[in-house]
Amino acid sequence: MRTTKEIRELYLDFFKSKGHTVISSASLIPENDSTVLFTTAGMHPLVPFLLGEKHPGGNKLASCQKCIRTGDIDEVGDATHLTFFEMLGNWSLGDYFKREAIEMSLEFLTSPDWLGLDKNLIAVSVFEGDADAPFDSEAFEIWRSVGIPEKRIAKLPKKNNWWGPAGETGPCGPDTEMFYWTGKPEEVPESFHDDNELWVEIWNDVFMQYNKTREGMYEPLVQKNVDTGMGLERTVAVMNACDIYLINTMRPIIEEIEKLSEKKYSEGGKSTRSMRVIADHIRAATFILGDERGVLPSNVGQGYVLRRLIRRAVRHGRLLGIEGKFTKNIAEKVIETLKDTYPELKKNREHTLGEIEREEERFATALDKGMKEFERLSNIDGKIAFDLYQSYGFPIELTEELSKERGFVINKNEFESEFKKHQELSRTASAGAFKGGLADHSDEVVKYHTATHLLHKALREVLGDHIEQKGSNLTAERLRFDFSHPQKVTPEEIKKVEARVNEIIHKDLPVKFEMLTVEEAKKKGAIGLFEEKYKSIGEKVKVYFVGDYSAEICGGPHVEHTGQIGAFTITKEEAVAAGVRRIKAVVS
Ligand code: ALA
Repeated sequence: MRTTKEIRELYLDFFKSKGHTVISSASLIPENDSTVLFTTAGMHPLVPFLLGEKHPGGNKLASCQKCIRTGDIDEVGDATHLTFFEMLGNWSLGDYFKREAIEMSLEFLTSPDWLGLDKNLIAVSVFEGDADAPFDSEAFEIWRSVGIPEKRIAKLPKKNNWWGPAGETGPCGPDTEMFYWTGKPEEVPESFHDDNELWVEIWNDVFMQYNKTREGMYEPLVQKNVDTGMGLERTVAVMNACDIYLINTMRPIIEEIEKLSEKKYSEGGKSTRSMRVIADHIRAATFILGDERGVLPSNVGQGYVLRRLIRRAVRHGRLLGIEGKFTKNIAEKVIETLKDTYPELKKNREHTLGEIEREEERFATALDKGMKEFERLSNIDGKIAFDLYQSYGFPIELTEELSKERGFVINKNEFESEFKKHQELSRTASAGAFKGGLADHSDEVVKYHTATHLLHKALREVLGDHIEQKGSNLTAERLRFDFSHPQKVTPEEIKKVEARVNEIIHKDLPVKFEMLTVEEAKKKGAIGLFEEKYKSIGEKVKVYFVGDYSAEICGGPHVEHTGQIGAFTITKEEAVAAGVRRIKAVVS
């Protein structure tokens, strides 16, 4: 059995041998990026560098990034889709381009020193061209020159072979995807058609050579990048010719569910699907709770996704006939499978187990009552959906799922607009927020970014050194900053913090960065999340200095001098969780 550990290490070793710097996985909760709720690909933490900022690790990078994709949530339950997954990736930041990227991909896949996959079972796709950008003849020719027959190179449209920007603007470009034949080797078709499901996509090389402008134009990028993504679990499943739920990081979770439900995974049908949903959702929930910037279940943003994952898993537990609480047992298995790769799981173990169980308890009581109520219904509309939500905490998606099972006719649009009338739905409920995307690096956001550093420092001055960043979210209209503090920040303290930030803005201090090792950064008094984030010894980090006022580990970008920020006003101070406060502020 090939394992994720083995393939992860091979991948990172391969790219190290090709001159890449291996960087650690970033948090699942994107920092300073309001366009996505979760990190959906290894490129998210690299957006500033894809746009031209200098990366401390140089211009060739590789990583194994933890990712969450909730866009695929409806497909969860089949044999290839996961909500949480590990993504292997390599990047060229203005260094190599198509030929090297493709040659390295093929070498890693087929060389007996690396994965040793059969080249005859590999097919690829390239961008066919449209009004925005031409056919990627370069990628096509490169694949041919390295021995992939023409019939195995599909030319496909933007829908298939283009990546980014998921937001409105930013770097993007054609990609080339690699597929592996999972049927009998002797039955491999001569030509490749992507509608044959036995061809499974395992890797995507994106050639970021355009910048999409606000006017919708695709202009050539000055810095041409390569951004690749290989699904680790999927690759391992393909190599073992097994279902994704039976690889080393998933099997112990499935076995635990078998034990609890006294059913067999191999049974097939609805039970198998429920087991997959539980394994997938609790795994994702465990990673969200155990993240270095973890969030708690709630009715908005990431917290709502977390709540929905746990609650859907609980319901599928009922469908399987599991009696009593079970999510904690499964979360324990998840932690065991990956705690060595992601030590934050171990560090946050108690917290994670406690929170997952609390959410299960909250839901279980309501679920029993709500289900009784549901059984009495003969039809459903938006008003009833809202009542179920308000009285029993049924997420709208659960009501939808139950309605479908009962054969109720539902008009999704009517349902949602009715629901919205009663409650302002969190933005997570709209599909748009689930999609991956690039941060908005408009001038306003940059101002808020620097203002956040000043706020962080001022809070430490006024309230004390126990202040630690717990979260940050920026839009072009405001900043939001979460931090550890045991009690309410008083109006006097707020005034002091505000005055201090404005004082620094008035001093018009220069903002500069230096590339330092973690040790050097600490010596210079830099604050930031470096403990969890930058694990390798000697790994260099970027430290932003605001004059001699603040030093903070951060990827940027920032204003050049603080006078550019404008007047700073705190608009709100509130609690978000036990021991965590939130401040919202605006600049004008
Ligand atoms: N960012 C690209 C993807 O996720 C590599 O497919």
